[in-house]
Amino acid sequence: MKIIDLRSDTVTRPCPAMRSAMAAAEVGDDVYGEDPTLNRLEALAAEMLGTEAALFVASGTQSNLLAIMAHCGRGDEYIAGQTAHCYRFEGGGAAVLGGVQPQPLDVELDGTLDLVRVAAAIKPRDPHFARTRLLCLENTQAGRVLPLGYLGRARLLARERGLALHLDGARLFNAAVALGVEAREIASHFDSVSVCLSKGLGAPVGSLLCGSGGLVAEARRWRKVLGGGMRQAGVLAAAGIVALTENVERLAEDHANARRLAEGLAAMGGLTVDPAAVQTNMVFLCLSPDRAEALATFLRERRILIAGREGIRLVTHRDVTAMDIDRVVAAFGDFFGRL
Ligand SMILES: Cc1ncc(COP(=O)(O)O)c(C=O)c1O
Repeated sequence: MKIIDLRSDTVTRPCPAMRSAMAAAEVGDDVYGEDPTLNRLEALAAEMLGTEAALFVASGTQSNLLAIMAHCGRGDEYIAGQTAHCYRFEGGGAAVLGGVQPQPLDVELDGTLDLVRVAAAIKPRDPHFARTRLLCLENTQAGRVLPLGYLGRARLLARERGLALHLDGARLFNAAVALGVEAREIASHFDSVSVCLSKGLGAPVGSLLCGSGGLVAEARRWRKVLGGGMRQAGVLAAAGIVALTENVERLAEDHANARRLAEGLAAMGGLTVDPAAVQTNMVFLCLSPDRAEALATFLRERRILIAGREGIRLVTHRDVTAMDIDRVVAAFGDFFGRL
């Protein structure tokens, strides 16, 4: 029986088209800027996001770190959500490696940061304080799509207060597909945008940091300093090109499957799932830790994998079909029917 893995969209495996593109990729030494496939990927990403330049990096974590280090110096500060990946889940890299202090703020129910609170958190220019330089938003944030109007207001605040604006757009294309807009419409509000190829887009490795030529040149320098300069990386970039050209529109299927899952679970009764809250490819459940553990074990025995660091998060992706969702709903029904 097939394993249905709902732990994350990072578990997607490269499809046959990606594997053959990787095998056939023309390569060169990227540290010399001579890998033609990598150059093609970076140009494609910049074009899709409407930025001057783009930089291929190992991971979303590295991309966010490079953005923060390119925007900020030692003793500077970035504002981000308490649950933002670039604050909570990246090992404190900006502080550890960049000497950049985070200022976390609570995330609102819709995934935004309250701009009044952001404005209040910007520190006065005074030797007592770190210099607030950067505001980081995340889109999607726990599967929620930030409204376009909000992005405009955030940009205005950032401009007025002299901050740069970075987007952790690990799942930016999910947001764009959900809104029915081009990714560049979202990206246009930001000074830098990080997008991941290795999540719902299905590539095995890699993220892209997109922004102005100057920002990307600075990030490229830090990437080398951090040991992230790659050589014949066209082998990886070839998969990234397939991800960007063939796998964006199909994200809508993942969103439909997430809704199907939420509706199936909600119909069972007794579970706190709101199908109307599902905007992209994630469904969240609140269960006590004991019950969550028992559920995970029960499902694992039925070849269904779930995980949850803080509550259960079920993530749909290209390796999960509508039929798989029906199997998952039935297994949940068996578990809760027994209680
Ligand atoms: C919103 C967000 N940003 C960044 C990352 C980091 O990506 P990576 O695992 O490639 O470092 C993740 C990973 O799941 C993420 O969910």
